[in-house]
Amino acid sequence: MEKVVLVTGGAGYIGSHTIVELQSNGFDVVVADNFSNSNPKVLTAVQTITGKKFAVENVDLSDEKQCEQLFAKYHIDAVIHFAAKKYVGESVEKPLEYYRNNFFSTINVLAEMTKHNIPFFVFSSSCTVYGEAETLPVTEQTPVQPALSPYGNTKQVIEEILKDVCHTHKDIQVIALRYFNPIGAHPSAQIGELPIGVPQNLIPYVTQTAIGIRECLHVFGKTYHTPDGTCQRDYIHVVDLAKAHVKALEYMLSGKMTDNFDVFNIGTGNPISVLEIITTFEKVTHKKLPYKIVDKRQGDVEKVWADTTKANQILGWKAEYGLEDMLNTAWKWELSLKNKKWE
Ligand code: UD1
Repeated sequence: MEKVVLVTGGAGYIGSHTIVELQSNGFDVVVADNFSNSNPKVLTAVQTITGKKFAVENVDLSDEKQCEQLFAKYHIDAVIHFAAKKYVGESVEKPLEYYRNNFFSTINVLAEMTKHNIPFFVFSSSCTVYGEAETLPVTEQTPVQPALSPYGNTKQVIEEILKDVCHTHKDIQVIALRYFNPIGAHPSAQIGELPIGVPQNLIPYVTQTAIGIRECLHVFGKTYHTPDGTCQRDYIHVVDLAKAHVKALEYMLSGKMTDNFDVFNIGTGNPISVLEIITTFEKVTHKKLPYKIVDKRQGDVEKVWADTTKANQILGWKAEYGLEDMLNTAWKWELSLKNKKWE
């Protein structure tokens, strides 16, 4: 019997790519999404890639009743919990919305898991928990810093909630994946990042500028203590990231977890600056990208990149895509959007 994985937030950027990898690796999928920041057509596109169907439920998981009904309807073996609000800036403006949505949905899902004896949970955490780290690259032992935003705080606090739940419920196994900066799109260009409104993140802003939707990219600051003065990040291809979820599930299912709560960094280990993104993008697309240096963005971390040894050794996972492929697939996706008429 194939294992059934509930993918919350399955219509989102990382969720949709993860469904493809789950289905390609023999898992059955149920998707729960409230489509507050995603388009249902993404799920049709996923089914076109894999040629396999899955159940879709329009559910607000922060509503206890709706969450209860979802778990009563399906037999579920494992949960991958993507559903969350995810914008740093917006979280500062609307902290209560972030706390209500991200906490309530996670707590409701965990409560249903304990009720139905569902043992496996993968959580979307973030490198944001490391803040401005004193030593780089960061390992999973690097101390967590006070969060710089309500968004970051939800990731930290949910990790703490998960530890507490695991302490009491020894039959539940949890892996938190600390994502670095996911970019790129599925090589088929059927799915990718689909920001609603003006993009907050770098790559969709880059591709929208290159295609003419935006006039000019703003580079936030050039006086950081980095080789070229712009911020450094660890960009990881979204397909590599999606595969890490399958590896995490397989690791849990293998019964090899020594503790029932664990965290893993998921990145490439390569620091890349904003200016390197621009030059590499121009190289792979042969397009000139108009940009200008502007003030630093409030709350930005200067530099962060991952030590991924733990995920490499324990999960048997390693990032495969290089930066050029990441930017090339992001660009192909942007080009394909012109013909999709998904609005
Ligand atoms: C942050 C969080 C990440 C979270 C994500 C969600 C950290 C370390 N990371 O990523 O956990 O999932 O937000 O939105 O807190 N930039 C520009 N111009 C732009 C946009 C971005 O120069 O128009 C620069 C930023 O200053 C940064 C880099 O590009 O140096 C990447 O920014 P972005 O894509 O927004 O991601 P993070 O802020 O790193």
